[in-house]
Amino acid sequence: MSLDPLEFRRAMGCFATGVTIITVDLEGEVHGMTANAVASVSLDPLLLLVCVDHAARTHAHLHAKKRFGVNILSERQRPISEYYAKPARTHGRAEQEAGARFDRTAQGTPILHGALAYLECRLQTAEDAGDHTIFIAEVEDVVVRQGDPLLFFRGNYRKIGDNTGD
Ligand SMILES: Cc1cc2nc3c(=O)[nH]c(=O)nc-3n(C[C@H](O)[C@H](O)[C@H](O)COP(=O)(O)O)c2cc1C
Repeated sequence: MSLDPLEFRRAMGCFATGVTIITVDLEGEVHGMTANAVASVSLDPLLLLVCVDHAARTHAHLHAKKRFGVNILSERQRPISEYYAKPARTHGRAEQEAGARFDRTAQGTPILHGALAYLECRLQTAEDAGDHTIFIAEVEDVVVRQGDPLLFFRGNYRKIGDNTGD
């Protein structure tokens, strides 16, 4: 069976997800990437995974830095998701253009203001899978806040309670 990748995307688009920003420190600058191919893997030890396209700049950064943050977006942070989903831009105007502000964790990883949750990750293994790599990381710390999530469903952003009749 030869299946069109677009059909695969259409099918997987039915699997509603949250939206995250993967953050990496690059010599004091914040690099971010919007990602929804994120999943919990193990409780003992605490592991999560993120799948990153070989073509994404973040791919090289995760290999090089081996430490990153996963910031789970709130429903008010759609502009931040859109900002970090655009390729080949520098991220110097993230605050002016998308309202993204960051603090640093004790390890120096950028942590996004206003995100619903933050997970501090240390890379454990990286497994190539087709045109993506599955990065599996140990979770060293978390921060959890109140609020509702930004969702991604059938290729569109949603909020809990939206009813567009799809
Ligand atoms: C909602 C959403 C989810 C995304 N999830 C992923 C993902 O899980 N993995 C990935 O490699 N790219 C994902 N992308 C695409 C990247 O955000 C996009 O290619 C980005 O420009 C890569 O940035 P970089 O080259 O600076 O790393 C997603 C985009 C959107 C809008």
